[in-house]
Amino acid sequence: MKTLIKNGRIVTAVDDYYADILIEDEKISVIGTSLTMEADKIIDAKGKLVIPGGIDAHTHLDMPFGGTTSADDFETGTRAAAHGGTTTIIDFAIQNKGQAIVEALDIWHKKAAGKTAIDYGFHMIVTDFTDDHIPEMKQMIDREGVTSFKLFMAYPGVLLADDATIFRAMSVAGARGGLICMHAENGVVINEIVRNALAKGYTAPKYHALTRPTKAEAEGVYRSIALSEMAESPVYIVHLSCYDALKKVKEARDEGVPVFAETCPQYLFLDYSYYEKEGFEGAKYVMTPALREKWNQEELWTGLRMNDLQTVSTDHCPFCFKDQKHLGKDDFSKIPNGGPGVENRMSLVYNGGVVQGRINLNRFVEITSTSAAKIFGLFPRKGTIAPGSDADIVIFDADKKMTISAAHHHMNVDYNCYEGMEVQGVPETVLSRGKVVIENGKYTGKAGDGQFLKRSTVNLGPTKAQEDGKFSIVNREPREARRLSEIKLHV
Ligand code: URP
Ligand code: ZN
Ligand code: ZN
Repeated sequence: MKTLIKNGRIVTAVDDYYADILIEDEKISVIGTSLTMEADKIIDAKGKLVIPGGIDAHTHLDMPFGGTTSADDFETGTRAAAHGGTTTIIDFAIQNKGQAIVEALDIWHKKAAGKTAIDYGFHMIVTDFTDDHIPEMKQMIDREGVTSFKLFMAYPGVLLADDATIFRAMSVAGARGGLICMHAENGVVINEIVRNALAKGYTAPKYHALTRPTKAEAEGVYRSIALSEMAESPVYIVHLSCYDALKKVKEARDEGVPVFAETCPQYLFLDYSYYEKEGFEGAKYVMTPALREKWNQEELWTGLRMNDLQTVSTDHCPFCFKDQKHLGKDDFSKIPNGGPGVENRMSLVYNGGVVQGRINLNRFVEITSTSAAKIFGLFPRKGTIAPGSDADIVIFDADKKMTISAAHHHMNVDYNCYEGMEVQGVPETVLSRGKVVIENGKYTGKAGDGQFLKRSTVNLGPTKAQEDGKFSIVNREPREARRLSEIKLHV
């Protein structure tokens, strides 16, 4: 099968030019001007941007959590992602306490196999990591294509891992080219504040935010970075929400520490005031970390512009308002944590970033696709438009406007966090490995089109200080962690 995309403006993280693209089967084979090859399908992209398919490195599909299960499964969630211009997701498999990591992976493979509209990979959430689990982590990295692992400082008794466990996991992952993703929030202190709030009879949704101070996140980020330095491992902070936490990342990166971080649309576009909506409405925005005061948003944009934040992922973890969020009607701590967003990320970031003049087009591509591909071992197969890369391509109408609404979104959830927001910039046609899965806004794919992606070990670009020639990842002096490495037992 040959497809020719003609007359488009190709934008990658580094390029911006007019050319045609020939796709043969699943890959881009030729890029050039005025291509005249025969093709089975010709797509006219005149007046449109032609960009790499989005990569959402943080989703939770079909995930048991908070006494229920996230409302999108791998079929509905990936279909919605495709509508929104995302052609790869990296979802989170969960190792329950006492469970073998390989067994957890098998369960998530079964959830996803044959269902997805787009390609997908897995991170592994690790809740138990004793010396016995070390060979399993090595197996994940070397053989299973699962090269990143999430650990939690939050949710005591459920997902929280103590510092020794985090350090152990970082030491092993770091030595094998794996990457630890940290949910960095001091959950133990937060639980104490939650207990006090409930004892005083504070049960409304807004107390979810009022019991989760930004300092709890900043402390978690600082501790994650310190542990990662001691373990000589890079670290990736997930769903960073506020300036207090961003400052810790920036400080470390300026010192040349290999720390990377993502933020999410909810922290760029929503804020604490959403919890003060009428009645129980605030429950729609109960997610962790919580929405912050509005002034944080501009700081996060600055972080994205200056590369202190490298990616925007969604943390898509939808729960229906009527049937699921209401589990916490009388107690905010029982509201399932998480919100939808996988479908809206590309348009929101384009509108808030490029249209509103905060970032340029190349940076838009970088933070929605290329950086995630590099950090999570998918580049250059994904995250760019180049000969030999997978033909994951979005024909993006940069002028078209759309009003976001649950009335016409494709996520399997009864509300949209961005209801009524007008965005400029809409994916028109989406190709996943050469197949058109969205054509003029209509789904043309089928469940099972997507494939599992075995990811490589991480490909971390330099931090700012490294770019300045101050340090390299492997040779930073003076470094106490270097000396500690002589007595490291785990690797
Ligand atoms: O509220 C959230 N973020 N739910 C999903 C789980 C997590 O911590 O990422
Ligand atoms: Zn998390
Ligand atoms: Zn998450």
